[in-house]
Formats: sequence, C-alpha cells, structure tokens
Amino acid sequence: MDRTYSKFVIFRISLLLIKASEKKLSVVEKTIDQIEAEAAGELKKALDKDAVEALSIKYLGRKGIITRFLRNISKLPGHLRPEAGKQANAVKKSLAAAFNETICCMNSNLTDESDSIDVSMPGRPVKRGGLHPVTQIIRTISDIFARLGFKIVEGPEIETDYYNFEALNIPKDHPARDMQDTFYISDNLVLRTHTSPVQVRVMEKTPPPVRIIAPGKVYRCDSDLTHTPMFHQIEGLVVDKNVTFGDLKGVINTFIHQIFDPGIGLRFRPSFFPFTEPSAEVDILCVICRGKGCRVCSQTGWLEVLGCGMVHPALFENVGYSTSNYSGFAFGMGIERLAMLKYGVDDLRKYFENDLRFLRQF
Ligand code: PHE
Repeated sequence: MDRTYSKFVIFRISLLLIKASEKKLSVVEKTIDQIEAEAAGELKKALDKDAVEALSIKYLGRKGIITRFLRNISKLPGHLRPEAGKQANAVKKSLAAAFNETICCMNSNLTDESDSIDVSMPGRPVKRGGLHPVTQIIRTISDIFARLGFKIVEGPEIETDYYNFEALNIPKDHPARDMQDTFYISDNLVLRTHTSPVQVRVMEKTPPPVRIIAPGKVYRCDSDLTHTPMFHQIEGLVVDKNVTFGDLKGVINTFIHQIFDPGIGLRFRPSFFPFTEPSAEVDILCVICRGKGCRVCSQTGWLEVLGCGMVHPALFENVGYSTSNYSGFAFGMGIERLAMLKYGVDDLRKYFENDLRFLRQF
C-alpha cells in the first residue's frame, strides 16, 4: 500500500476511534501530517526565541498536541498501534529538531558580528606604509637644491682609499684621517666615511660647470646618542668660472631658510677640512632655546649643521681641472642630524630602530 495512503487510513481510523471512545476529548481532529504542517507554518512566523519556545510547549509540552496524540494511540486497535506510534514519534522528533535549530539560529544571529552588517559604521581604516623620515628629508633637501639648478647624483658606498682620502687631499698618515673612524674592508677598500668622494668622481667624469648634490649612506665606527655606525649625508659641489665664497653663503642661506624656518639665525664659523680652503662650519641658532643656551646646544646657543668651503686647488689638480680658470665650493651635511634638529628628536638611534610608534609620527 502507498505510504501516505496508509497513514491517512490509520489516522482517519484513529480519529474516529478516539472520538468514539472518549467524547470529551476534543483533541485530535486532524491527521499527524496536518499537525506537522501547521506546526511548520507557525514556526515560520515565530519572530523570536520566546515565540519558538511557546510553540515547543504547544506541540511537545506535557499537555502538547503531539503528546496527547501519542497518549491516545493506546486507544487504537492493537494492529494499528505500532505504525501510528512510529509516525507520530517521527513527527515529534523532527519538530523538536526544527524548534531547536531555529532557536540556535536566532542566538547565533545575535552574537555573530560577521553576520550582521551595520551600514552606518565608519569603514575600517586601511593601514598604509609611509616613507622613512630620513627618506622624506632627503627628498625635501633634494627638491630644494633641484630648484636651485642642482643635479642629483650617487656614488658607491664601498670606496677605495684613493677616493675616500687621497684624492681629497688626505694623504696617508695625515692627521685628518683620525677625524673619521674608518671601517676598513682591506688595505685599499673602505666603507666611505663621507659623501665627499662623489665630488672627485663627478669632476673626473664631467668638465665644468658642475652643480650637483649627492645624497647617500656613510659609515663610521662610532655609536652613541648622537652617532650611529651608518648614517646619511648630502654632499654639494659647484664648480664654474668666478664662483666665490659669497655664492656659497647665498646657497647655504637659501637652503637653511627653506628647510628650517625662514627667520632662523645662522652663522659661518671658520673651520678646517683638507679638501676645502678656506673652510667653514655653519651653525643655526639653537632650535630649542633660540640662543639662550641649553643642554642640547651645550650652552653655546648654536647648533652645527654642516661643513663647507671653497674647493681646494689640490682636488682640481687631481681631476685635471684648470685652477686658474675655475673655482668652486662644496658642502656636506649629516641628514639624521638635520632631521633631529628639524623634528626635535633627541636620540639619533631612534631613526634606525624601526619602532613604528616613532616612525608613524612623520
Ligand atoms: N665631508 C665632510 C664631513 O664629512 C663635510 C664637508 C663636505 C666639508 C664638503 C666641506 C666640504 O664632515
């Protein structure tokens, strides 16, 4: 016999029997299939947990429709009971599962944030990388000099003794070699201690006029609050006819006033470098105390920012430039030092620790 049909027959019979045997029992005037369909329909309309729980009581509770249905099976004729019990129990089980699942779903909707989208929330920011402050300041400085007509060039970080010292008028045993704590790779090779060798390399290859800056890494065997074994410098070189110390002062003035505030005080102080004559160091008024004297400027009121001077004739001779037709000036500065003064950072090593809390401030 077809299953649905048999079910139908069983329950038509069972209903009749129930009705007949117990008149006050108004209960089950429907087949178990109808009950199941109605329960499913009501469940669909249940909006919250409470509604589903109420349905569960209505159908599966102690006095629930299915429970009563099951109880009444005992009143059926013996040969119908097994099949009727089986089917009613199957419906009971599937309804219980449906109620549970719905409650579960409602719970997880409440707690699982990924399922609920609040369209009024602001978007999550996408974290972007940024340029290292040293790169930023190199670019700022390069832009300033580019506007003044300077070309940007680079040179090797591993240098020969000749370019790092000899050609710059620093012969072997010259006391000036002590000014720089050199990393030697071999007798003849060093990690460049300054960017000045680029001056020589450029002049060797290019006839005057020359107007270049050369940013890059330099190395010195030194490490404390204001020194790191690797740091950056920018070298500048101008060679042409009739270049004077006045031109040097003009360029440096313009540069300092663009990189620091335009009103900052500045002075040229006589100094010595083997590759410039005369030589000077440039100080700016202390950015912290404005000249009053403090810890940062060692009570002098001034901060040294760069070295410079007129190119020494010995260099021209080394590269084959005419010393009678041409003159030039050169300057060199430590970039981290400049950045420290510009941004008020007190420890040079911070630039190399890669601490994002520090770097994100730039
Ligand atoms: N090379 C020098 C230094 O490292 C700086 C400098 C460059 C001075 C050019 C004069 C001219 O300190």
